[in-house]
Amino acid sequence: MNIGLIVYSQTGHTNSVAVKLQKKLTAAGHSAILEQITITGNTPAQPGKFQLSKIPTADSYDAIIFGAPVQAFSLNPVMKAYMGQLSSLKGKKVALLVTKQIPILWLGGTGAIARMKRECESRGATVIGTEIIAWASLKREQSINRSVENLSKLF
Ligand SMILES: Cc1cc2nc3c(=O)[nH]c(=O)nc-3n(C[C@H](O)[C@H](O)[C@H](O)COP(=O)(O)O)c2cc1C
Repeated sequence: MNIGLIVYSQTGHTNSVAVKLQKKLTAAGHSAILEQITITGNTPAQPGKFQLSKIPTADSYDAIIFGAPVQAFSLNPVMKAYMGQLSSLKGKKVALLVTKQIPILWLGGTGAIARMKRECESRGATVIGTEIIAWASLKREQSINRSVENLSKLF
């Protein structure tokens, strides 16, 4: 399958998971292309105070894994802006990956996934899996490996 991993990662956590996932998908025989969303402006990005500078297109992929961090108990504003400008995702399978700091449920991970899911489904995608990784978890490596395994098995 032709899979795009489209990621915004401010400090590298989400990207490091995406790299592992890309390797796993490639080893399983898929085409897996990792593309970064980039911005101009200050980081951490604040709503209205940055511009998307690299805007990966989703058109050429059969399936897409979107990855982004939580920021201020919500989906990072860069991924919000990126998803807001996406055109149709009709017929595409989508999986969602979020990283956050604190391993407590109500600190933004679930809400970030819900926001991404709404954005994708409203454009006609089928969301087939979601994963949240808490970076400060004592079991972080296990959690990363489990999430990479779960996401790679979807395709
Ligand atoms: C400005 C800012 C706000 C953040 N807000 C939250 C938050 O509300 N909840 C949380 O669990 N983590 C929060 N974090 C932590 C990041 O979500 C976490 O470190 C994430 O793994 C970073 O991913 P990245 O390296 O791919 O950017 C915040 C980080 C920054 C920089």
